[in-house]
Amino acid sequence: MTMTGKAKLAGVMGWPVAHSRSPQLHGYWLEQYGIDGAYVPLPVRPEDFDAALRALPMLGFRGANVTVPHKQAALAAVDITDDAAQRIGAVNTVVVTEDGRLEGRNTDAYGFMESLHEQAPAFDPTHGPAVVLGAGGAARAIVVALADARSPEIRVINRTTARADALIRDIGSPSVAVDLSDMATALGDAALFVNATSLGMSGQPPLELDLAPLSTDAAVVDIVYEPLETALLSQARKRGNPAVDGLGMLLHQARPAFEAWFGVAPDVTDALRAAVLRPGKG
Ligand code: ATR
Repeated sequence: MTMTGKAKLAGVMGWPVAHSRSPQLHGYWLEQYGIDGAYVPLPVRPEDFDAALRALPMLGFRGANVTVPHKQAALAAVDITDDAAQRIGAVNTVVVTEDGRLEGRNTDAYGFMESLHEQAPAFDPTHGPAVVLGAGGAARAIVVALADARSPEIRVINRTTARADALIRDIGSPSVAVDLSDMATALGDAALFVNATSLGMSGQPPLELDLAPLSTDAAVVDIVYEPLETALLSQARKRGNPAVDGLGMLLHQARPAFEAWFGVAPDVTDALRAAVLRPGKG
């Protein structure tokens, strides 16, 4: 697809940004839908973030994704925020409004829930407690998503307990902090287990967790997608648990952003999954 002078522009701001899969993801959709547009990596140092964000409307950008380490800074820097961004405490999507203001949204909670619907369609969040391992930005989005989906209790377990306590304080009921040593009991009557840490990712320590106490009806989600089939997911599948990989959340969180910038509601397909998993051009 050839770009014209009217091309719609968006990108992803991060530091570093080279690891981001978002250019492959949005680039695939631009091609698929024949849209005159571009989605580019924007390497922005933390000290330049506010100025770079403010430059988006001046450069004619429709908006941008925001990734590590700027997600919290973006919440303070934008003009308007949606409810999800406020509650999660971070912005992952910025949309430039018609009058040139910056609207900060967070689509991670939406992406998590959509991925669950897609990959574990029988899962009903109201049917039992959820156990979420982790208390970082991803965990915050997941806890907000589950609270909105009327999970009866969300048990947040984290290596650093102060961070789990802060999450509970910020997001509130029905989330509760549970000690790592009480994992087996927490899993006992759970309808869902989510790994919201980087454990099990290539280059990171493994996630050493025995799913034995968990019912085989419970859904198991890993936010890690490198590798796609983590040790946690293969353990889950072997014992018959519905298993949800981390790529789903990445793909689904991108849908509302793409629609806001480029005007087309895109689909998540197997071909898209393959394209995003393909190694980038070295
Ligand atoms: P993200 O925004 O992707 O959630 P993050 O805010 O850096 O990233 O959070 C990473 C999560 O993985 C945290 O819950 C972190 O635990 P701590 O709060 O104790 O740091 C968890 N994590 C990362 N490495 C870990 C490890 N080796 N053992 C246990 N938890 C780990």
